Amino acid sequence: MRTILEANSKPNCKFQILSNPEFLAEGTAIADLFSPDRVLIGSLQTQEGKDAAVSLAEVYAHWVPRERILTVGLWSSELSKLAANAMLAQRISSINALSAICEATGANIDEVAHAVGRDSRVGPKFLKASVGFGGSCFQKDILNLVYLSESLHLPEVAAYWRQVVEMNEYQKRRFSKRVVDTLFNTITGKRIAVLGFAFKADTGDTRESAAITLVKDFVAERALVNLYDPKVPHEQIWLDLAEAMPVTPAATIQKQVQICGSALEACKNAEAVVIATEWKEFREIDWETVYAGMNKPAFVFDGRMLIDVEKLRDIGFKVAVIGRGERL
Ligand SMILES: NC(=O)c1ccc[n+]([C@@H]2O[C@H](COP(=O)([O-])OP(=O)(O)OC[C@H]3O[C@@H](n4cnc5c(N)ncnc54)[C@H](O)[C@@H]3O)[C@@H](O)[C@H]2O)c1
Repeated sequence: MRTILEANSKPNCKFQILSNPEFLAEGTAIADLFSPDRVLIGSLQTQEGKDAAVSLAEVYAHWVPRERILTVGLWSSELSKLAANAMLAQRISSINALSAICEATGANIDEVAHAVGRDSRVGPKFLKASVGFGGSCFQKDILNLVYLSESLHLPEVAAYWRQVVEMNEYQKRRFSKRVVDTLFNTITGKRIAVLGFAFKADTGDTRESAAITLVKDFVAERALVNLYDPKVPHEQIWLDLAEAMPVTPAATIQKQVQICGSALEACKNAEAVVIATEWKEFREIDWETVYAGMNKPAFVFDGRMLIDVEKLRDIGFKVAVIGRGERL
């Protein structure tokens, strides 16, 4: 941008380029904006560049405490944005990698995450195991870091960060395989209710959502999928599924997938319920009614660790939760 502006600017007209990455997360964007952990402003380390950074810092200073406004070099600023997202995603991939060990050993990932997070050097945030991270930022920013590392002839660094994305893909595959394995190694013709399609609760955004991969895997295994999400528009779901399964005819997808108007409707006559997004309303589902309407044995696979496992087992469900090793 700087090269283009400098080549085309009129005499006496000077530009400075600042890097000012934003750190708003979906669902909490306004709160993040009003009360940011930090504001990052990168500039060239020339006098003009530093002056431009100070001008922008003064705008933020109207509502952000000075010590939270960081003025740094251009590359530091750009790299810090990628690094922040890469390290957040790395925490999720680390806890998800441990969730596989928990399932194999009988350990409980909630207990492990809690114990690890109590170490003040590690901290408790972003240690929730799940069916995998999604959203528009994490994967894109890590792959950006991978690309940058490769361009800079740092293949080991590129491979290190790529593994965070690969672990995420593995987690999604592992979860859908667990569903198939548990349902006696085949889900052909079986009805599976998938609750949630957004990549996280409180948003209708489906970009990189783990639910897309799950539904794709279930359709490939010739299951019948009943989908329900409180927020995602139906057209978006069809678009995402068509994009995820480019060689599967639309008629096949629409024959195998049905979009439902409520969680209860989706679960009716299903063999299994799969929780893909941590919507609050899924915590308040009337599981007794769900159980009565399902085929038996009735299975619940919790990819977000939101159900009360003991309560569901008492009702009669067979329950499998990410990162819990109890045998069904
Ligand atoms: N969304 C945007 O438009 C945007 C724009 C610029 C920058 N960013 C940056 O990208 C980051 C990611 O934003 P986002 O909107 O994808 O939201 P996010 O960080 O809340 O969610 C990303 C993923 O992490 C998972 N996750 C959230 N909390 C978790 C926890 N405690 N433990 C384990 N997993 C957890 C979510 O389920 C989701 O799959 C933001 O923090 C922000 O710094 C976002």
